[in-house]
Amino acid sequence: MEKISCDIAIVGAGIAGLRAAIAASNFNKKINIAVISKTFPVRSHSVCAQGGTAAVLRRGDSFDLHAWDTVKGSDFLADQDVVEFFVKKAPKQVIFLDCLGMPWSRDEEGLIAQKRFGGHSFSRGCFAADYTGLHEMHTLYGKASALENITFYNEWFATSLLTEEGKIKGLTVINIKTGEMHLFKAKAVILATGGFMRVYSFTSHSHTATGDGVAIAYRAGVPLKDMEMTQFHPTGLVPADGVLITEGARSEGGFLLNNKGERFMGKYAPEMMELAPRDVVARAEWTEIMEKRGFSSSFGKYIALDLRHLGEEKIKEKLPFIKEICRKLAGLNPANDLIPVKPTAHYSMGGIHVNVKTETEVRGLYAAGECSCLSLHGANRLGTNSTAECLVFGEVAGVEAAKYALKHDFSEAPLDKVKSEEERVFDGILGKEGFEKVPEIRKEMRETMNENCWLFRNEEGLKKGLKKIRELKERFKHVAVEDKGKIFNTGLIAALELDFMLDIAETILTSALLRKESRGAHVRVDYPERNDKEWLVHTLIYCSKEGLKFNFLPVTITKWKPVARKY
Ligand code: FUM
Repeated sequence: MEKISCDIAIVGAGIAGLRAAIAASNFNKKINIAVISKTFPVRSHSVCAQGGTAAVLRRGDSFDLHAWDTVKGSDFLADQDVVEFFVKKAPKQVIFLDCLGMPWSRDEEGLIAQKRFGGHSFSRGCFAADYTGLHEMHTLYGKASALENITFYNEWFATSLLTEEGKIKGLTVINIKTGEMHLFKAKAVILATGGFMRVYSFTSHSHTATGDGVAIAYRAGVPLKDMEMTQFHPTGLVPADGVLITEGARSEGGFLLNNKGERFMGKYAPEMMELAPRDVVARAEWTEIMEKRGFSSSFGKYIALDLRHLGEEKIKEKLPFIKEICRKLAGLNPANDLIPVKPTAHYSMGGIHVNVKTETEVRGLYAAGECSCLSLHGANRLGTNSTAECLVFGEVAGVEAAKYALKHDFSEAPLDKVKSEEERVFDGILGKEGFEKVPEIRKEMRETMNENCWLFRNEEGLKKGLKKIRELKERFKHVAVEDKGKIFNTGLIAALELDFMLDIAETILTSALLRKESRGAHVRVDYPERNDKEWLVHTLIYCSKEGLKFNFLPVTITKWKPVARKY
């Protein structure tokens, strides 16, 4: 097996990974940095972030206001020290991108334009039309690829972390092109692999969002935090299995209608209406559908998003990507037609447990962006806080990992673990003559999650879902990858991803069963109230030889005591 040595290995080349790489490179030019990505970097899921990046830039706005919106939006589960740190650092990231040439949309005075997103009480979302993530990615990739101490390993797939005595030693990675496994020896590792909403079938997440980094951290003994907190975005395009229609469309004046032609959000959030936080709007839509006020179609029930009054010109200027998505994926023109939408699995608020320095419980191992859980978003993330998080904590991770790498030498990687990883992948999965098929198990997993762990949850459904996922894990042991070759074996990669997703689905269901209250995106119809007395805590879930283990962490409250959440 070929060995590659680097000071810092970054897994994932989305906004968080690229920002971390640039920060580490700027911290010290002698550090050598490997960026490992299973896709070409600018195809990472970050390119799908349409909406914007939240930052306090104007008079009238303040750090406290942004922090309060975030804390209230999180249904008081966010750690407030993290939130306060984040809001103060976000503006610098917007300026940093501006200096790199990011084509922000501008207002009449030439200032970076900002618009209001759900749950924010001020227009603080900076945007580049509705292509914000795409432009951020291209801007960061342009910079990172010009830095000499960064090497990109594109289309390389990380399969496991190598740790010993609570310290990171490196990781195992397959070069997809050759199919060979490599040992990356690294002083520090940053996981920036994004979310895992592909465990659901109706989702705005790219096919690549399979939670690989979360699963390899979990298997290495790192706890996962608040895994029950999966976010449903109110406007997933119905004929296209949940592709995102940005909240920016509602920010520009779009509204939601039921089959009676009513703008129903007035009943659920009289002040903020369609720009209430996502959990509130998604629940309102689902309630309308359940109470038979949704529209019917061959693709299922839906709610209508009305942009017609904005007119062709405004839609073309402000929402060009939405126009294109509607035309290409649904055959609609939003200037003339209602857009069929419903809640879509959009964002993983839980993930790898890290502190404000992005450190995990393993020395030298860091995580940033959607794969991590700081917790900044608590039980419900506000739109535009995610790209801002990737930028702020991507930089933190890059700097912290660089400091760590400069203080430590390489240490021998545990070769027995490398060998058993080769056996798991090549003998156990690729070599096996099984009778089960990856697409079938994957489809059943996704349907199970949709049916039993969607917006409204209860004990019976969650237990049923967990039982089914455990059956699928058993069946996975008999899975066969038909193509036995090594070169560009996408069947093998799909099997490895499914193996990771099954672990993740199990942790989501288990944590959802554990939390016996309703908070933010996690609604238990059998425990309909928020219960601050018993549940103002984070759930931690560990993988151990004896099975899953749990723990709880108190929520950090600095200034804002929990109050009833009204919009
Ligand atoms: O609606 C959106 O554009 C999504 C933004 C976000 O998730 O932050």
